[in-house]
Amino acid sequence: MDVRVAVKNEWPQLRPLVEEMGTVEDRSHLRQRFDAVVDDPTHVLLVALQEQDVVGYTWSQDFGPHLRSGRSIVRMHDLFVRPDARLSGVGRSLFRAVRAWATERDASWLQWHGGSESREFYAHLGIEPIVEDPNRPPYEIAFKHPAG
Ligand SMILES: CC(C)(COP(=O)(O)OP(=O)(O)OC[C@H]1O[C@@H](n2cnc3c(N)ncnc32)[C@H](O)[C@@H]1OP(=O)(O)O)[C@@H](O)C(=O)NCCC(=O)NCCS
Repeated sequence: MDVRVAVKNEWPQLRPLVEEMGTVEDRSHLRQRFDAVVDDPTHVLLVALQEQDVVGYTWSQDFGPHLRSGRSIVRMHDLFVRPDARLSGVGRSLFRAVRAWATERDASWLQWHGGSESREFYAHLGIEPIVEDPNRPPYEIAFKHPAG
């Protein structure tokens, strides 16, 4: 399995996964929004491939420097693995890649909301929600930086 940045011509393969991840609004502009995300260096949309087949994706955004710390806040918007490819390490690989992206950008925080069925997955990664919420638990990783 390979994890890498998505390219625009993968959209037909990726679209069903994006639609299964959650509610899609304004469908007529969905493709345009995908292209804009791929073009924007403050976003990263990664795909997991098994023999050229897109089996998962994740999309994150760097919201830019915090006023006082000067370091970024990165939010993971989506993490999705196709049901037939689950429980074989794809989600873990995608999440690791997002975490690495946030670290490379010298982020202070990586934040996201989990879904109602992702709690066990994050627990296996050693991550617990910062507030208990059975439907949309919030998560945060605070990266350590030297003071100053
Ligand atoms: C959550 C999700 C991304 C996990 O993807 P995945 O590819 O199945 O996860 P992995 O195979 O990498 O699992 C990593 C570990 O978590 C465990 N795990 C994953 N899902 C689990 C579940 N539902 N119940 C129990 N354990 C689970 C795996 O067994 C594995 O355990 P290990 O540490 O012993 O190896 C996937 O189920 C999914 O796309 N769900 C729908 C969307 C969603 O909820 N996204 C997350 C919210 S942002």
